[in-house]
Amino acid sequence: MKRTATSLAPGGGPALRLQRSLDEARGFWTQAFRRVRSETEARAAHLSAEDQIVQSMADVSPAKWHRAHTTWFFETFLLVPRLAQYAIYDERFPFLFNSYYVAAGPRHARPKRGLVTRPDAHEVAAYRAHVDAAVERLIAQVPPAEAERVFSIVEIGLHHEQQHQELLITDILHAFAQNPTHPIYNASWQPPRATQGPRGFVEVPAGIHAIGHDGESFCFDNETPLHDELIPHVRIARHLVTNAEWLEFIAAGGYATPSLWLSDGWTTVQTEGWQAPGYWRQKDGDWHIMTLAGLKPVDSAAPVQHVSYYEADAFARFAGKHLPSETEWEAAARANVIADAFGIAWQWTRSAYLPYPGYRAADGALGEYNGKFMVSQMVLRGSSLATPEGHERVSYRNFFYPPARWQFSGLRLAEFE
Ligand SMILES: [Fe+2]
Repeated sequence: MKRTATSLAPGGGPALRLQRSLDEARGFWTQAFRRVRSETEARAAHLSAEDQIVQSMADVSPAKWHRAHTTWFFETFLLVPRLAQYAIYDERFPFLFNSYYVAAGPRHARPKRGLVTRPDAHEVAAYRAHVDAAVERLIAQVPPAEAERVFSIVEIGLHHEQQHQELLITDILHAFAQNPTHPIYNASWQPPRATQGPRGFVEVPAGIHAIGHDGESFCFDNETPLHDELIPHVRIARHLVTNAEWLEFIAAGGYATPSLWLSDGWTTVQTEGWQAPGYWRQKDGDWHIMTLAGLKPVDSAAPVQHVSYYEADAFARFAGKHLPSETEWEAAARANVIADAFGIAWQWTRSAYLPYPGYRAADGALGEYNGKFMVSQMVLRGSSLATPEGHERVSYRNFFYPPARWQFSGLRLAEFE
């Protein structure tokens, strides 16, 4: 599922496209909307109705919930305020499918999403079809004075849905990994191939760099404001850390050596009984890993996946190196000196997820999108094999809690002189 970089919204933001022609903009957003909505359904099409109900831990959500929640997002933030005479499809759904938007009203407890067997998958499909038709009607009919605002809400709704497309994959893999029969999501799935060539470390251009989103194209608010950061003299690994390197870490007793670990990390290793990355299993004396194509032997040449921040940090210490900061990563990616920045594994950085200087979340419910999570999490950069086409950006900031490892998360190292 490795994707090439194409933008959902090429050539500037909604305002720029409006200046070209309102009719062109209507056509552009209709096509973008259909493309993204159908990708969600294509990903869910590999799953049975039973698969779509399961919630294997509180951090993950059922596939059916992802399909409904992304639909609720368009209904709540676009159709209700912007489409005249729009009536909510089912008055029970906002409580079920609101995720964390306090300003949008009360909501069902997240850990109990897997208990919602009704509406069933067919009803959720009907909900999606109803909202799809209404959104397309709005795009086609919106008056010129309101078009820019409507298209900008469509745009954030599509990027939001793409985030859930990735989660749909990572969440069902977590569920399948709990099943002793190792279910297959997609038998023809192949892991992306990492770039070959000389390994080692490359210089990150030192000095003052502009960090954050620049230009007119879409970004999330947490990528702004664009601001200056001082990048020190640092070298960054051209490649991602591989399974072969991780096997050395295991063989050297990495998971049994407390001096390599942060205190919280060591506690987690002991509590969880970690002896290897997530989804690794010993079978006939060899390590295997649960993948989207079922249980497969660990490929030593492939980049390591499903490691937590605690593990990434411990590995870096073991290797005598460091994790790059998110600004060092961004400067290196902008300078085009690193391989596999995108499309294989999100890369943990040593940066806490904090607001950029001067950042303020927007007013209203959509202001809850990113800003209120800026505590206790760590930033990952790049994108993964599950990230949909056109969703990656050099300024993109992903974030997860330090013990999380159900995402396609790996690392690259950095070294200081
Ligand atoms: Fe969401």
